[in-house]
Amino acid sequence: MKGAFSLDGKIAVVTGGSSGIGAAIVSRFREAGARVTVADRLPPAIEDEFFVRTDVSVETEVSSLLDGVRDRFGRLDILINNAGIQPLGVTFEKITASVLERTFAVNVNGVTYGIKHASRLMGEGGRIINMASFVGLLGIPSGTAYAASKAAVVHLTRCGAIELACRGITVNAIAPGTIRTPAVTGIPDNPEIPFAESRTPLGRLGETDEVAAAVHFLASDEASYVTGAILPVDGGISAGWERYDLTLPREINSKGEWHDPES
Ligand SMILES: NC(=O)c1ccc[n+]([C@@H]2O[C@H](COP(=O)([O-])OP(=O)(O)OC[C@H]3O[C@@H](n4cnc5c(N)ncnc54)[C@H](O)[C@@H]3O)[C@@H](O)[C@H]2O)c1
Repeated sequence: MKGAFSLDGKIAVVTGGSSGIGAAIVSRFREAGARVTVADRLPPAIEDEFFVRTDVSVETEVSSLLDGVRDRFGRLDILINNAGIQPLGVTFEKITASVLERTFAVNVNGVTYGIKHASRLMGEGGRIINMASFVGLLGIPSGTAYAASKAAVVHLTRCGAIELACRGITVNAIAPGTIRTPAVTGIPDNPEIPFAESRTPLGRLGETDEVAAAVHFLASDEASYVTGAILPVDGGISAGWERYDLTLPREINSKGEWHDPES
């Protein structure tokens, strides 16, 4: 009998699998028994025989990637739409058509093409998992194109879940907080790091393995009744405000007991 959360024999594709969160998902899936194709614009640091150079913003590249996986392995079970670019820190004053267009081409069109072509090839039990972000759930200053693109990923996830439910394919998303990846640590003196450490309720950045663990659950047979879910993996940063000034209602007395007002 297969162990809990086994991905034994599953055929998976991870876009953006050469770096950061995607690379952690590739490793974890392989440890769980899946046969994983890495799809990225750039090759992984360590040569990978299952690497397919792909730009997810080009529909024909996504469709031929997924057709190729189905032809090579006979099936497609899991697609992780993880590839993304992260132009944070761009205010409305600074936003340009070129940043908007490239951000949406990769983060939104790429996910859309992934859902379109994976669902064409998947059977019952198929799993599609999209990488959103906590800034797709909450507004932040300088979020502009990036935050809006991740809000779109949240909605594509819900629409995909509803449309594909009749075929037994689930569509879910992860909304990571600030995760220690090259996209974050590669920015010299990145002010996001101390800010996220001080504002995240769990008091630290997330690690790629912590995101991969949540993706693993959603990809597993055990998640068969989960679809249309947006799972935050963010140390609690999307749970609420750290401060909101309030006072006790009149109905609570000095001993902390509730007294309904006299009618
Ligand atoms: N790191 C974070 O704090 C964080 C937080 C929330 C969401 N995310 C999201 O998680 C995902 C992974 O981010 P990461 O931090 O691991 O970034 P990363 O930059 O380390 O990795 C992203 C990978 O995507 C690839 N990629 C970029 N454009 C592509 C394209 N057009 N086609 C194919 N591949 C492409 C890159 O080559 C790279 O290998 C992204 O969607 C990102 O928006 C990251």
